[in-house]
Amino acid sequence: MSHPIRIAPSLLAADFARLAAEVASVEQGGADWLHLDVMDGHFVPNLTFGPVVMEAIRRVATKPLDVHLMITDPWKYADAFLDAGAQCLTFHVEVDGSGDAIGLLRKIRARGAKAGLSLQPDTPVERLRPYVGELDLVLVMSVFAGFGGQKFLPSALERPPALRAMGFGGDISMDGGIGASTIAEAARAGVNVFVAGTAVFGAQDRATRIAELRRLATAAASV
Ligand code: DX5
Ligand code: ZN
Repeated sequence: MSHPIRIAPSLLAADFARLAAEVASVEQGGADWLHLDVMDGHFVPNLTFGPVVMEAIRRVATKPLDVHLMITDPWKYADAFLDAGAQCLTFHVEVDGSGDAIGLLRKIRARGAKAGLSLQPDTPVERLRPYVGELDLVLVMSVFAGFGGQKFLPSALERPPALRAMGFGGDISMDGGIGASTIAEAARAGVNVFVAGTAVFGAQDRATRIAELRRLATAAASV
């Protein structure tokens, strides 16, 4: 069970006044996926953007859009994000009491996208057990969702092995505080999709930074 290493720059750390150029710079710099953070001001205190802006990004992007919904009502908005071109659509397991989570995961897959669930650092990994067979990706938060530039929480590293022990065979993504000093331990723990906002967009040379992250992750994963 080997999954390709993917570097997914988070546009949350991009210059929103120059989105097309920012997308081009990380795509030319070797990004595999583009990570889009959607926040509704309810599930998290912050607000970002919705399907309209996402659709504009899709028009200039060539890489898959990995959409991370930090919203209380993914049932209401999933179709809009799928219509806008999400190739991977992830929502949070913490909202699963508000609707039919299995039904939504199946609908995402039926529409041809990868279906993902994410969990906050203080949510037990056991919460994912009922969904394991319905998921293409698990997005493990290594900070509390809501803002970029936070410090990596090492307790996240316990989750990939726990997910594998549960029988999950899909992609494991990690999000929050991923950079040159943390990516190797994430890769050793079993992560294969690395979301990085500040580490990529804060670098003068994005191509060099993405290559460095890929090299560190590849070396650690092969040990
Ligand atoms: C946080 C978002 C992240 C964020 C990561 O809620 O889900 O994707 O952009 O930012 P960094 O890489 O700066 O920690
Ligand atoms: Zn994210």
